[in-house]
Amino acid sequence: MAEESFKAAMPVAELAPGRMRSCRIGEHEIVVCHTREGVFALDNVCTHAFARLSEGYFRGTRITCPLHGAVFDVRDGRVLGGPATTALPTHPTRIVDGVIEVALSSPDAS
Ligand code: FES
Repeated sequence: MAEESFKAAMPVAELAPGRMRSCRIGEHEIVVCHTREGVFALDNVCTHAFARLSEGYFRGTRITCPLHGAVFDVRDGRVLGGPATTALPTHPTRIVDGVIEVALSSPDAS
């Protein structure tokens, strides 16, 4: 049974509302998105081909891939627009002492 372990991603002061930022946690490339509904973390690599979502566009709760334009909901990773058909994995976040922490529930899973 995988246990969630939260790791520091970045100070919340460095991620203004409406902005996204990539970071690396262990072997994982993560994109952290600050929305009006809270802070969400997702895999940074698109599920369609290879592109970093942090190099795309982020507005509201939607993130758009820079390569072919797939759109994902950052709250749950679901696909809102193709060509991607697979949801983007999401990861729990929390803020402790002004630092955004992200939990990777199965860090060895690919
Ligand atoms: S790589 Fe993201 S939509 Fe194709």
